[in-house]
Amino acid sequence: MEIVLTETPADAAERVATEILTALAKKPSLVLGLATGSTPIQVYERLREARQSGEADFSQVRTFNLDEYLDLPPDHPQSYRTFMRDHLFAGLGIPPEQIHFPPSEGSQLVQRCGDYEDAIVAAGGIDIQLLGMGRNGHVGFNEPTSSIRSRTRLKTLTQRTLDDNARFYADGEAQPTLASTMGIGTILDARRILLQAYGVKKANAVRACVEGPVSSFFPASALQLHANTTCYFDPEAAQFLAMTDYYRETRKNKEALAAAGRM
Ligand code: GLP
Repeated sequence: MEIVLTETPADAAERVATEILTALAKKPSLVLGLATGSTPIQVYERLREARQSGEADFSQVRTFNLDEYLDLPPDHPQSYRTFMRDHLFAGLGIPPEQIHFPPSEGSQLVQRCGDYEDAIVAAGGIDIQLLGMGRNGHVGFNEPTSSIRSRTRLKTLTQRTLDDNARFYADGEAQPTLASTMGIGTILDARRILLQAYGVKKANAVRACVEGPVSSFFPASALQLHANTTCYFDPEAAQFLAMTDYYRETRKNKEALAAAGRM
């Protein structure tokens, strides 16, 4: 796990977006695994700018979103399809048939979750997976005790996650308590993972994810099993990490080796 400590979320977003744009320039049919939540919004803004300025062409990109609430219609203001349309897809020019979400409406959900896995494989697997993290360490909607080898499936949301997301719902409005989500095993199959976590409310989660034991009770800790993950944290999120000096030193050495053309 590579830990990158940045001054601000904007610095980190710039680096994450740059990595995506560099990968896209090399592979126009890039396969992206995408996350919702406030964390990736600045990355999405940067990608939309790149498209608008003609710097990048997303017309061949395939996308697979991590998760979706059960039974919210696609145009519901809190559905993740609406979130992605508003924050990314509306300005990107990806043909709709290349955009995928896990099944969240209708029947035969177990079979269609399997079909989602098959669609990812048929696309050649995910090149870059973006991740945020819940305060309880969830990634996607893999709540604590999610199997580390889990695949796309339905999950019951914890009260903590419901409380965290309640702010998006009007008083008295029904909030979904079930969701479909890629599994931790699905996420770990991505060739590259970029996780971002910002703010004091993520500080405990960041400590457990990076410096705690691998545990299904803390799903993001499973990323320690992935060989090509970079985590971006701002100072508030990183405040409980024990080895920040080491992470800075590691980064400096890597940049020096890269600048010398030795990587
Ligand atoms: C939701 C999403 C996660 C996301 C998390 C954190 O639960 N399912 O994918 O990482 O929220 O959200 P935020 O980035 O707003 O803190």
